[in-house]
Amino acid sequence: MELSNKDLLAIRDLSPEEILLILDTAESMKEISTRDIKKVPTLRGKTVINLFYEPSTRTRTSFEIAGKRLSADVVNISTSTSSTTKGETLKDTGRNLQAMNPDLIVIRHSCAGAPKILADTLPASIINAGDGAHEHPTQALLDAFTIREKKKTLSGIKVAIIGDITHSRVARSNIFLLQKMGADIRVSGPHTMVPPFIEELGVSFMPDMEEAIHDVDVIMMLRIQLERQQHGLFPSIREYSRFFGLNLEKLKKAKSDVLIMHPGPINRGVEIAPEVADGPYSIILDQVTSGVAVRMALLYLLIGKGNRESN
Ligand code: CP
Repeated sequence: MELSNKDLLAIRDLSPEEILLILDTAESMKEISTRDIKKVPTLRGKTVINLFYEPSTRTRTSFEIAGKRLSADVVNISTSTSSTTKGETLKDTGRNLQAMNPDLIVIRHSCAGAPKILADTLPASIINAGDGAHEHPTQALLDAFTIREKKKTLSGIKVAIIGDITHSRVARSNIFLLQKMGADIRVSGPHTMVPPFIEELGVSFMPDMEEAIHDVDVIMMLRIQLERQQHGLFPSIREYSRFFGLNLEKLKKAKSDVLIMHPGPINRGVEIAPEVADGPYSIILDQVTSGVAVRMALLYLLIGKGNRESN
């Protein structure tokens, strides 16, 4: 089986079978990162460009490591030192990069739809590494990989996503993915940070966080996306933390085998207490480890032998 598109722009475009293909391929890829020599020749001769218009630690680094572990040539472009600062448009940047014949471009951008503009313009494969408040598909895939690794299935598991749902591309991609795979999802957060018609996506809204977390298998905490908010949506950090922060007291109400997740970066003491982030239920760093395996799988499936045109 192969992925049907040349690009990965959104979880919405993937079938459940394609999601399983990516997760199963990532399982094989994960083993490579445990070897003494963490490198295989799979993508030798291929070129991957990381084009990040927004800051990133985990996503950019793991794409670079993923490409290098598969022997691709990886080029990182920081837009703060590129000709974007001289007024070059996204399409022109894309056309100029394409003229150097890359096989794949990973793009993060503050505007929803920016990766699609490149995908529609360029023959190279495009991976969306987060576009505005739209989607962050590789985050949802690595989250699903991590949950499946711990719980052995995605079907039927109960997941609570807590926090700034409206501005979170991670929440959107996770809702789409987990629903496709048969999970039961509820969200909780201040009314000002939850879209009014969220239940039309098939998830339930529980304004009381303690009620939302009491019987779930997974609690996914989100950072407040201040960079995407136009004006204050809650009275104070202290109040937000009191009602929607996860601390040891609230955790006592959750199941004894609950998993605590967070896409990072975490704001300690705001949405998650340090004792919870660093505690025994937290799989936050496992998520980061999964990110390399999942991104290796995607590079392989899009531009390696997993791809129709390469065979
Ligand atoms: N989770 C995530 O996208 O982290 P970065 O912003 O550090 O890439």
